[in-house]
Amino acid sequence: MQRLREPKPAIVGTGAYVPAKILRNSDLERMVETSDHWIVERTGIRERRIAGEKECPSDMGAAAAMMALERADLQPYDLDLIIVATTTSDTLFPSTACQIQQKIGARKIPAFDLQAACSGFLYGLVMAHHLVAQETYRTILVIGAEKLSSIVNWTDRNTCVLFGDGAGAVIVRKSTEGGQMISHDLGSDGSQGQVLTVPAGGSRMPLTAENIGEGLQYIQMVGKKVFRLAVDAMESTARTCLKKAGLPTEEVSYVIPHQANLRIIELLAERLNLPLERFFTHLERYGNTSAACIPIALHEALTAGEIRPEEKVLLIAFGGGLTWASSLLEW
Ligand code: ACO
Repeated sequence: MQRLREPKPAIVGTGAYVPAKILRNSDLERMVETSDHWIVERTGIRERRIAGEKECPSDMGAAAAMMALERADLQPYDLDLIIVATTTSDTLFPSTACQIQQKIGARKIPAFDLQAACSGFLYGLVMAHHLVAQETYRTILVIGAEKLSSIVNWTDRNTCVLFGDGAGAVIVRKSTEGGQMISHDLGSDGSQGQVLTVPAGGSRMPLTAENIGEGLQYIQMVGKKVFRLAVDAMESTARTCLKKAGLPTEEVSYVIPHQANLRIIELLAERLNLPLERFFTHLERYGNTSAACIPIALHEALTAGEIRPEEKVLLIAFGGGLTWASSLLEW
């Protein structure tokens, strides 16, 4: 029997783009003192995609956006707002969102970037759902797009093995179809910001020959601390989100977690008492693509037929800031 659903803000189309160039663990063995065995055992990552020299988040985001529009059976002129989550904007300004507005040929609609590191896409998704619910805008494009290869120190084995490039996009508008949001949780803790940061290149420390020499324009991370904070924050935000929905954990059919480290995901599954098979992973192929990983994963899971109607899907993110976010959707 066909179920009856009210039209509500929903994800009605998804798209993804990853660059063609593959950087395998065996390639990294020739760049830094590491091994395929160490990387797979400690992170689960086997390879990642690296954008071309002139390929920017706006190019990748525009490609993902066009795919999402096509899958939603919409055109760029149907869009009313563009939100782009990125930590690696093409330029400090103009924003990547404005560049995507031009690249996809959207009308002169509002477009802005949102910076919440790896949690950025879910921050944007929550904003989009509320703006559509309040009928401020009808059709919103939310993108996560990153070129982390541009801020990775390729001589630092502690970080260079972890990250990759790519973009994912979704279209949010009122519909009886697609993924409707049931609940969400967002949070941050600036007191822990220093465990994951790019120190130079902002207004506090503009780029100079000296700080470039020290590699301060690259990601600096206290890996072990980030690991522990990530597991705690992801468990806590997931529980809060489910509590708001009044849904017991076991009723979650599918979890799309931030793709940083397979061991983080395994621990999260254990803590939430959910089988690991319900967790989507692609980090073995793409590494950590920050704000892009959840929309890419969502697109892959949907196109692979892994999410079925009426299933409840929990998206969980964690990132620099610190920031965290979760959202429960029903398909
Ligand atoms: N190859 C070989 N050895 C390495 C490598 C490498 N690529 N990287 C580190 N090591 C060495 C270290 O130097 C250290 O050696 P030492 O004991 O002689 O000092 C040893 O391996 C162990 O290092 P640890 O830091 O203890 O390794 P750990 O098990 O913690 O794994 C890792 C490191 C993978 C970074 C892990 O801490 C982690 O995943 N942390 C979370 C990272 C994360 O999620 N970041 C992003 C989240 S937010 C966002 O997405 C932006």
